[in-house]
Amino acid sequence: MSKPLSKLLRREQFAFLARDRSAWGGHLDRVRAFLGEGLQSADPTRPVLILGAGSGLEVPWALAPPDTTGWDGDPWSRLWTAARHRRWPPWVFGDLTGGMAELEATARRAVLEPWSGHHRGLEVAKKRLTGLLPFLAPEPEALRAWIGAHRPGTILAANVMGQVGVVAEKVVETVFGGSPWDPDPEREEPLAEALAAWTARAVEAFLRVLRDSGADLWLVHDRAVVFGEGSLDLGPWEDAWIRHLRTGGPSLEASDALAGVDPFGVLPGKGLDLVRRERWIWPVAPGQRHLIEALAVQRRG
Ligand SMILES: C[S@@+](CC[C@H](N)C(=O)[O-])C[C@H]1O[C@@H](n2cnc3c(N)ncnc32)[C@H](O)[C@@H]1O
Repeated sequence: MSKPLSKLLRREQFAFLARDRSAWGGHLDRVRAFLGEGLQSADPTRPVLILGAGSGLEVPWALAPPDTTGWDGDPWSRLWTAARHRRWPPWVFGDLTGGMAELEATARRAVLEPWSGHHRGLEVAKKRLTGLLPFLAPEPEALRAWIGAHRPGTILAANVMGQVGVVAEKVVETVFGGSPWDPDPEREEPLAEALAAWTARAVEAFLRVLRDSGADLWLVHDRAVVFGEGSLDLGPWEDAWIRHLRTGGPSLEASDALAGVDPFGVLPGKGLDLVRRERWIWPVAPGQRHLIEALAVQRRG
């Protein structure tokens, strides 16, 4: 994995763990219960894979079968997990999307003139990157290869899928040496749109690899991020997350953490049944709440 990405993920993990966690109890109980159920229902004679295993804050490793591997791009994640759970599992330190290094190299090409090494002006660099992004097709080759070699019976995706867009934005910001985004939210931002389209391709490719893996899947992810202070609750279940939300007050803004990809549109078929679906609200910070989605998908028969 590229050095800048592993550094970036390490920084993000520190920031994540340094947050005020006093309001996280409800979320942590639910996510641990859900992932714990996935681990307990796994066939203990087959490998299990935990994607986005991180520091193990959300993962009840005590329930994991002996042949369980963690996967996380943060180079410290295994150490954190060992410290928290007194367990030293096999680990893969890699980019789950398979596309971050190419994204970073492309952003660099947009920012720097290759013949002189000089920085281009911000607007020119943004325009170049906007033009180059549609040619990138992220494919999780390393994940596909690992699954092909180890044939896991169960795969958990522990709050990582909704991070793809966040990490992609951070990669671009790092290469640009600061935020390239227009501070006026009313103005069109073609680079942000092109990056969201890249994110959608990456999330979809990730989901396709999981669908084709032959494993039972236990997926937890941010489905949306809601900013603002108004009241926020859930109504009766609706597949479309936006219709599931009950909001009060005019000032709430919600963004789709999966860049418009609908897991229900990608996962069914190929002998898979959706056996559990849950959503809850995670108050991450004042004025920032995440709609969490948990889906269990099992192989028929
Ligand atoms: C919100 S945290 C999940 C926390 C984790 N489930 C736990 O229990 O600590 C997201 C995790 O995904 C990892 N991650 C994000 N993007 C990744 C990528 N492209 N490849 C590999 N890991 C990634 C981060 O390093 C981080 O540990």
